[in-house]
Amino acid sequence: MSRQDPHSYSDLEQGRLTEVALELRVDFAASLLRGRARLTLEEPTGGTLDLDARDLAIEQIRSVDGASIPFALSDADPVLGSKLSVDLPQGTAAFDVFYATSPQASALQWLAPSQTAGGEHPYLFSQCQAIHARALVPLQDTPRARVRLQAEIEVEKPLRVVMAASMDGERPGSSDATSIWLFHMPQPIPPYLIALAAGNIHAQEVGPRSAVYAEPEVLEKAAWEFGGVEDMITTAEGLFGPYPWERFDLLCMPPSFPYGGMENPRLTFLTPTLLAGDRSQVNVVAHELAHSWTGNLVTNADMEHFWLNEGFTVYAERRILEALEGAEFVALHAAIGRAGLAREVKRFGADSPHTRLRTELEGVDPDEVFSLVPYEKGFLLVRLIHETVGQPRFDAFLRAYIERFRFQSITTEQWEDFVEGQLPGVLKQIDAEAWLRGPGVPKNEPTFASDRKAAVDGLAAAWGEGRRPTVESAAAWSPEEWLLYLQGLPKKIDLADCEALDKAFGLTGQGNSEIQVEWLGIGVASGYGPAIDRACAFLGEMGRMKYLKPLYTVLAANPDTKERARALFAEVRSTYHPIAQTVVESVLK
Ligand code: BES
Ligand code: ZN
Repeated sequence: MSRQDPHSYSDLEQGRLTEVALELRVDFAASLLRGRARLTLEEPTGGTLDLDARDLAIEQIRSVDGASIPFALSDADPVLGSKLSVDLPQGTAAFDVFYATSPQASALQWLAPSQTAGGEHPYLFSQCQAIHARALVPLQDTPRARVRLQAEIEVEKPLRVVMAASMDGERPGSSDATSIWLFHMPQPIPPYLIALAAGNIHAQEVGPRSAVYAEPEVLEKAAWEFGGVEDMITTAEGLFGPYPWERFDLLCMPPSFPYGGMENPRLTFLTPTLLAGDRSQVNVVAHELAHSWTGNLVTNADMEHFWLNEGFTVYAERRILEALEGAEFVALHAAIGRAGLAREVKRFGADSPHTRLRTELEGVDPDEVFSLVPYEKGFLLVRLIHETVGQPRFDAFLRAYIERFRFQSITTEQWEDFVEGQLPGVLKQIDAEAWLRGPGVPKNEPTFASDRKAAVDGLAAAWGEGRRPTVESAAAWSPEEWLLYLQGLPKKIDLADCEALDKAFGLTGQGNSEIQVEWLGIGVASGYGPAIDRACAFLGEMGRMKYLKPLYTVLAANPDTKERARALFAEVRSTYHPIAQTVVESVLK
C-alpha cells in the first residue's frame, strides 16, 4: 500500500489519471450535475484503481467501447468520503464514469434566485479546495495527481457557465432551451483547482488579459474595484517570472461564497465583500494572483504541507504590494497579519500541534483545522529566510524554486532539501526545524518597522488611560491603520465609548468589511445595540467564513445575544455554503 496523501484513497502506483473530460448537465430543478466523466490514464493499465468519491451516485462505469466495468463504492468515511474501486480490464487507457452529484455535494452551492444580486435566476458554484473535488467528479483527489481538463457543460438559457479553464465558447444544447459551454485546460492542475460557476454571469474587460465576470447588477462596481489588476500582473511577473496561465480573469461571486478568494487558475473567485468602493481590499486579488506561481505552479503535495501554498503566497502577495504601495504599506499588512496569528495561537494554545507549519493530519478534516497559522507563520518563515540571505539571493532562490518545481507537487521535506542545496546552511542558521515542526512563533521572527503602526499601537495601548483618537488625526488614517487600531483595543469597552466612537467615525456603517467586522466584534462584546443589530443583519447578507466565525462566536459568548444568534442561524442557515453551515454549527454548539 503506498497511499501517501492522508486525505485520499488513491494509490498512484496503481496508475495515474492525467486527463478528465466532463460532459455534464446542470439541473437546477434537482440541484445536481449529471453526466459522464471520461478518465484517461497516463499509460494503459489493468486491475484495481482506487478513486475518491463523496456523495456521488455512480450509475455505470464503462470502457470507451461501451463494455461494462465492475466497481465497488465503499461506505463513506466522514472525512474522506467513499473509496470507488474500479476493476479495470488489462490495457485500459481510458474509461467512462456515468454519475450524478448529490444535492448536498460539499463542493457545490446551489443558490435560489433570491440569493443572487439579480433575484431572478438561480446560481451554482463549486469550491473544491481542500478535498471536495471528489464531490464533483470521481478521481484521484490528491494534489500529487495533476490532470488536464476538458468540459462541456449544458445549462438552460439565458444562463452561462464559466470555468477555471480556457473558455472556448458555446454550442447549441440538446434542446432549444439550453446551450453547451465548452472549456479546456491545457496545463495539468491539481484536482482542487477544478472550478465552475453557472448563473446570470456577464463579463467586462478590465485589462489586456483580464475580464471581470459577475451578475450584471454588480458588474460595474466589481470592474472598477478590480480595475488595477494588470498593474499587479506585470509587477508579479517582474518578481516571479512570466505569468504562466495566459488569462487572469476574476469572478465576483454571490455573497454566500465562503472564502475571500480562491485561486482557481485563469479565473479567480472573489467574495463581493471586497467591494468597498475604494479598492482597499485588493490585497486579496494580489494574493490569489500570487498563487499563480506559488500554489498553482508549485503545489503542496497534500494538506500536511499547506503552508507551502499559503505561506509563500502571503509572502509573494506582500512583495507585489511592496512594489506597488511601498514598504510602509506592507509593514501595516504584516502587523495586521501578526495580530491575527497571535489570536490563532491563543485560540489553539501555544503548544498546540495546529500551530506547526508541517502538520500531521491523518483522520483530521482540513476544513476543521483551517487557520491563519500556515498563512502568517509561513509568511514569517519565508520573510526570515529572505532577510537572512538578503533580497538579491532570495530573489534568485525564488525564481529557481519556481522553475525547478513548476507543475509539480512537493512536500516540506523536498522543499528543505532544495533550500539546503540553494542556500546552504540557512535552515540551520535560523532553526527552521523550530519553525516547521515546533509549535508557536519562534523568538527570531522578523519585525517590520513603521511609524504609522507605532502611532496607532501607541494610541490603542493608551486606551485605558483615557486617550482617544481625535477626528482630525483619524481622518488621515488608511483602512489598515483603522484595522490595526481596532485590533489593539480592549475586546470590550464602555457603552459610552462605543457611542462616541461610532458617532465620530461612523464605524457601524463602514464599507470596508474587515474594519466593519473588527468593530462589530468590539461593539457586540460591549453590548452596543446598533452593533448587535448590524452584526445580525450582516450575518444574513453574506456567508464568508472569515466573518461568520468571529461574529457568531462573539454573539454566542453572551447569554443575551446567544439566543438571538441561534434563532438567526436557524433562519439563514440554508443560505450558507455546506462547509460554512458546519463551521457555524460548531461555534454555536
Ligand atoms: N486558497 C485559499 C482559500 C482556501 C484555503 C479555500 C483552504 C479552501 C481551503 C485562498 O487563496 C485564500 O487564502 N484566501 C484568503 C484571502 C487571503 C488574502 C488570505 C481568504 O479567503 O480570506
Ligand atoms: Zn491563499
